[in-house]
Amino acid sequence: MRDQRKTDHIHIAVKTPDGPCSNGLQDMFLINQSVPELDLEDIDLTCDFLGKNLEYPLIINAITGGNEQAYRINQGLSLLAAKYGLAMAVGSQTIAIRDPGLRDSFRVVRDNNPEGIIMANVSANSTVEEALAAVDMIDADGLQLHFNIPQELAMTEGDRRFRGLLENVQNIASACRVPVIAKEVGFGFSRESVFILSGAGIKTFDIGGSGGSNFIAIEAQRGGNFSDVNEWGIPTAISLGETVSTGLDLQVIASGGIRTALETAKCIAMGADLVGMAGTLLKILLQNGLHSLDEWLDKFLFKLKAILLMTGSKNIDELQKCPLIITGNTAAWLKARGIDVSKWSLR
Ligand SMILES: Cc1cc2nc3c(=O)[nH]c(=O)nc-3n(C[C@H](O)[C@H](O)[C@H](O)COP(=O)(O)O)c2cc1C
Repeated sequence: MRDQRKTDHIHIAVKTPDGPCSNGLQDMFLINQSVPELDLEDIDLTCDFLGKNLEYPLIINAITGGNEQAYRINQGLSLLAAKYGLAMAVGSQTIAIRDPGLRDSFRVVRDNNPEGIIMANVSANSTVEEALAAVDMIDADGLQLHFNIPQELAMTEGDRRFRGLLENVQNIASACRVPVIAKEVGFGFSRESVFILSGAGIKTFDIGGSGGSNFIAIEAQRGGNFSDVNEWGIPTAISLGETVSTGLDLQVIASGGIRTALETAKCIAMGADLVGMAGTLLKILLQNGLHSLDEWLDKFLFKLKAILLMTGSKNIDELQKCPLIITGNTAAWLKARGIDVSKWSLR
């Protein structure tokens, strides 16, 4: 059943548009600087993540693993991760923990990128043993624990019991030899959730906000009866604002509906250390092929450097100090939650 579900998710995700709600990033504006005193070659996008150095603050986020199609997807994506120096997460590994014959479809990500930053992935509901096995399977540098309660509730065959989740996360975090990343899958972490999980030992968050791949909408096409709830979730811009304004010492990954270099730069300016993309990359790969995705990434990375230059920022640290104007619904939401948006615009 898990295998069929994974196949369905890929096919449905590729033909389902992002949303219906926006990721909120249209509410945010960077400021053009006409005298940046920089050459393009001065721009340095390297960053530290999970104890290694990355060429670009970009993660190919968790998508798949398991069957033959998943093998081919992971094969293609991991070659590009190695080529450009990007981090990559595999999809949920539970299927291969239960059936060792499926491990190659995950392991290929490490084999193609022996020195790269690779993240394992299981549900936050998994046992400690499953979580540790996922890390060992691909010699992972970090472990993503995914939080996907709305998706489970939207699935006819999904989980209905979530008590004990926090204690489970705490147990995994204290047993795991690599850093654990709490990851939402398109519904967004709230400030409250970040405080709670931080208390359980989580220091890295992938906020996975709404506005991109939408698992309520995807499950609705697999027979789930939840489609009138498909506006659920905290848009990416807002979830990011809530997370970075906790004041906690965290590493933050912005994700959820990121489609462009400009959106990526806005997230970093708001305080994200890295940005993750899943649906955008999957759609290009399956609709246009690996060569097109390669070209797309090349252009994307050029544009990201160009945007840093246009804001007068030499590196990520400087972009994180650039003024960022926050307007519209995103500003209204953040203000309603007691978050002062002028701390981004007046710096
Ligand atoms: C087809 C598909 C399968 C996914 N499978 C997983 C998974 O196994 N584990 C996980 O943590 N997230 C999974 N995700 C969620 C993504 O990693 C990401 O959090 C989410 O799609 C939001 O980002 P996006 O809008 O860039 O796609 C999947 C996404 C897609 C599109």
